[in-house]
Amino acid sequence: MADLLNIGVLVSGSGSNLQSIIDNIENKSLPAEIKAVISNRPDAYAITRAKKHGLPWNILEHDNFQNREEFDQELIRILKTSNVELVVLAGFMRLLTPVFLNAFPQRIVNIHPALLPSFPGIHAQKKALDYGVKFSGCTVHFIDEGIDSGPIIIQSVVPVHDDDTEDTLAARILQEEHRIYPLAIKYYAEGRIDIQGRKVRIKDAR
Ligand code: GAR
Repeated sequence: MADLLNIGVLVSGSGSNLQSIIDNIENKSLPAEIKAVISNRPDAYAITRAKKHGLPWNILEHDNFQNREEFDQELIRILKTSNVELVVLAGFMRLLTPVFLNAFPQRIVNIHPALLPSFPGIHAQKKALDYGVKFSGCTVHFIDEGIDSGPIIIQSVVPVHDDDTEDTLAARILQEEHRIYPLAIKYYAEGRIDIQGRKVRIKDAR
């Protein structure tokens, strides 16, 4: 069997994407090992999930740091000490500084609940509803200096229904998130991702 990819998962909330990654690892669909789960919020349910599965976890409250750079330095320290090769942002609601990006060049991925480049930033599902789009979805992408602007790895589309609320649309999108995030990490673990400028090619993807 191929080597397992060491990943670190950064979270701020419920952690349902973390759960889908854990499930895919446990059922052997994803050749990865979670070396660290780090939350910037002490009350994140994601941490309860990490504990349940015996995963190493940390809480880093950003209020305890002088500035963003110091917070990022501590994140880097934990991730490097844990031998993390790929940083996975899973509902991590905090902007990272260039200090962090430079520590893991082209090795940070994020999932966003919209079809980028539409509706970056927070409240993406509400923005899609308010705009009146007929389809939305989710995007797994690499992180760069911008907000949700890095090269796109995988997207998945869902319909928007006339009677959708923010919650019903978010739930429909989340189902797809749970499918494509582990898949994107799997492609990375298998060494099948090639980044050329903005374009990401996945070798032998159908
Ligand atoms: C997910 O919908 C994710 O796409 C979104 O937060 C939710 C986290 O859910 N992320 C962002 O909006 C990042 N800008 P989870 O904690 O249950 O995985």
